[in-house]
Amino acid sequence: MSTLDFSTKIASKRFSNPIFTASGCASSGQELSQFFQLSEIGAVVTKSIMTKARNGRITPRMAETPSGMLNSIGLQGPGIDVFLERDIPWLVENNAKVIVSIAGENVDEYGVLARRLRSVQGISAIEVNISCPNVENRGQVFACHPDTASAAIESVRRNIGGELPIIAKLSPDVTDIVEIARSVINAGVDGLALINTLLGMVIDLNTMQPKLGGKTGGLSGPAIRPVAVRAIYQVHQMFPNTPIVGMGGVSNGRDALELVLAGASAVSVGTATFGDPTAVIKIRDELQMLLLERGFNDFRDAIGFAHRASS
Ligand code: SIN
Repeated sequence: MSTLDFSTKIASKRFSNPIFTASGCASSGQELSQFFQLSEIGAVVTKSIMTKARNGRITPRMAETPSGMLNSIGLQGPGIDVFLERDIPWLVENNAKVIVSIAGENVDEYGVLARRLRSVQGISAIEVNISCPNVENRGQVFACHPDTASAAIESVRRNIGGELPIIAKLSPDVTDIVEIARSVINAGVDGLALINTLLGMVIDLNTMQPKLGGKTGGLSGPAIRPVAVRAIYQVHQMFPNTPIVGMGGVSNGRDALELVLAGASAVSVGTATFGDPTAVIKIRDELQMLLLERGFNDFRDAIGFAHRASS
């Protein structure tokens, strides 16, 4: 029987398989660890952490949509001090590969967070979330403009030191995602996370008011998968040497394979986890099977295959 090298690399870091959690959908992994060993997945990507504890937006914070979900959490979290004291040691103890997601209210805060994380043991990469749609001020969605996107990344780059790869998480809510990708690559990222949620709204027909307390929210789930595939394809075509962690509506192995063929070096699973906490394991196994069925012996040969086949 043929075998598959299922490992993947993001910059200098190797992961045993390419299926990760998506930031925000599994906190720091504690809840999921009831269902499987965190070491069985490629990496845990933590909920974006900020400099201070934050309560997030007013409720309701979630609404269902056709084939999707709208969330308006507002970056709720314990803040970097508690995270470093409580969550990182727990993840290390549980043999998880850890990608820490960070979010700042301004450019300087990204630098502060990078400085706090730079010498912490047990972290494989930093995801710089510059694309959270659930902030009061749209000007804080740094990923919507190339200058603000690169300023946030430069702040991290100046402060991170060492060898920790920087992954910038981009928003699909832009005219040209390739332009934003170019700006953060020039600012020194080692990889990209594509895509964050799309800004959306649901209106309740009984109250005739927006369903979410924060009015708008981020749309995720199968409804956005074609947007993710398109963004990954476009960016990989222009920057084939920049690894992409793909995400957006992946709920089975076929969906994951689609993102890989478009150009993703790893795939994060988010919304599917809410319906089935073991989704990430099932998707890992299904992807492995699908790759073997298609004659791949090395996962990395499948990355961006759709470009090779169509050119
Ligand atoms: C949130 O906490 O509001 C979601 C974070 C994100 O989408 O980046």
